[in-house]
Amino acid sequence: MTSTTPRADLGLIGGSGFYEFFDAAERVSVSTPFGDPSDDLLIGDVDGRRVAFIARHGQGHRFPPHQVNYRANLWALRSVGVRQVLAPCAVGSLKPELGPGTIVVPDQVVDRTWGREHTVYAEEGPVVHVGFADTYCPRGRAVAVESVSAAGKSVADAGTLVVINGPRFSSKAESAWHQQAGWTIVGMTGMPEASIARELAMCFTTIALVTDHDAGVDGGDAVTHEEVLAVFARNVDGLKQVLRSALVAMPAEESDAAATCGCRRALDGITLPFE
Ligand code: ADE
Repeated sequence: MTSTTPRADLGLIGGSGFYEFFDAAERVSVSTPFGDPSDDLLIGDVDGRRVAFIARHGQGHRFPPHQVNYRANLWALRSVGVRQVLAPCAVGSLKPELGPGTIVVPDQVVDRTWGREHTVYAEEGPVVHVGFADTYCPRGRAVAVESVSAAGKSVADAGTLVVINGPRFSSKAESAWHQQAGWTIVGMTGMPEASIARELAMCFTTIALVTDHDAGVDGGDAVTHEEVLAVFARNVDGLKQVLRSALVAMPAEESDAAATCGCRRALDGITLPFE
């Protein structure tokens, strides 16, 4: 990166279908202490807001959920100035009443992933224990819920996202356990994305599109990848409309002290290298 590298205060982590959001954008290659991000960043204007986009799974969807370099992706966004992240994803529903096409804006997470690099403070250095009691940014969540409602879509405001390691789907017994625990939706990419964002003092909001009822929910049978892709494809235009209006409505760039959520002060006293 150079002093002329373009900057952005908003970040979007999503599928490659979102490239078309920008009228004109610059492709920016960022190197990080954690290796390469999934792809170059695309930085440009979306309806007057500066946005940096990264394709979570890389070009051609080449990184499965357990091989995404979450640390590098978040670090890359933060290093170009991003402090507010919107992270759409596909999920299965654990509740009969939340059917395919519903959008859930979760407020809690349960991490059942393993073997993923889950912290940017793994090396010798400051000992950092960020708070994660409230997983997602309350301000980002409010904007996301309002954007889904304004688009006339069905939205679940709050709910618990359980993140499994994948890449396989859950067994019926695992899914029954997740349902009995009272959790709402199940996905494979939500962690450690959300907690690394907190470790970098970034506001982070997940917008989860339900593509299926998970195994056994509502008497249903096994989930298939084809079903997930087909439902996602049917709903992606609506999701993009929601994301575009949410990006525009996100809080304007501000100092950490001025921010009214705790996310931005998660690192009080620690300075990151690009600050
Ligand atoms: N992503 C979409 N549907 C899913 C499911 N049922 N389980 C885990 N991840 C998913």
